[in-house]
Amino acid sequence: MEKRDYLTVDALGIPELAKVLDLADELKADRRPRDDLAGLSIGMIFEKPSTRTRISFEVGIVELGAHAVVLSAGELQLGRGETIEDTARVLSGYLHAIVVRTFAQSRLSTLAAAGSIPVVNALSDFEHPCQVLADLQTIRERKGRLAGLKLAYLGDGNNVAHSLLRAGAMAGMHVAVGCPPGYDPIQQVVEAARAVAAGTGGTVTVTADPLAAAKDADVVYTDVWASMGQEDEHDARLLLFRPFQVNAQVMEAARPDAIAMHCLPAHRGEEISADVIDGRSSVVWTQAENRLHSQKALLLTLLA
Ligand code: CP
Ligand code: NVA
Repeated sequence: MEKRDYLTVDALGIPELAKVLDLADELKADRRPRDDLAGLSIGMIFEKPSTRTRISFEVGIVELGAHAVVLSAGELQLGRGETIEDTARVLSGYLHAIVVRTFAQSRLSTLAAAGSIPVVNALSDFEHPCQVLADLQTIRERKGRLAGLKLAYLGDGNNVAHSLLRAGAMAGMHVAVGCPPGYDPIQQVVEAARAVAAGTGGTVTVTADPLAAAKDADVVYTDVWASMGQEDEHDARLLLFRPFQVNAQVMEAARPDAIAMHCLPAHRGEEISADVIDGRSSVVWTQAENRLHSQKALLLTLLA
């Protein structure tokens, strides 16, 4: 079978993305154990901390009949300087796929190029493509559709923003990013998403005005202001990002039935107010649960 990686959202085609979401819904409706991936061993390497991704993947792998081997980089010779290429070649002899959370996107592409097994991006500094599968599943569940909806993302133009831009454009959504100047998503990602949106009926906008981004939004999404690896910038960012907090005023600018989303972990009082994340419009717990179902659907699509 042809090796298929999932390093960025657009590794799936547009019709295929819709199929993954349909399958995720089926897997959610019937969570009985399956044996589609029986006999396969799937590795997971984490070079950054994780609660949701690590646990949802491990549980999902087991529920599909496969075996999960979970490792932190510190436990591998990788943490002592063995090259990514050598690690990839060796792991390809044992495992049938590998799920990796790391820093630079190039570490994933190097691993994928040197090895012969599928590589899944479990978050890099550039994208978080598994997260947005759960996000789209959640939005579809709540709103009944994706195309034509407005998704406002407020905060840092980071990995999650990049994946939302790409996935939202593929789904025909109107993605509006509101971020402080200098913290915009990478221009290349914005332009690529815009090109995709032109073919799906969606739109992509980036503004420094948070209320303009949130205006009439069906979905208001945020993420931490300082991502993993940027901890030393946290305090400096607090002041700068303050106007981009998702709070009651922002939700007021959105549609009355708008939902509030956050990939988690959240910092109440920073990027999102407690009344919003713990309030009626919040769907963050469903979002977190859907990581399990959507990643099972992804693994079946890549490996079964
Ligand atoms: N949203 C997300 O990826 O959470 P974790 O860092 O806990 O995996
Ligand atoms: N942007 C965040 C997402 C955490 C799931 C980070 O990279 O730390």
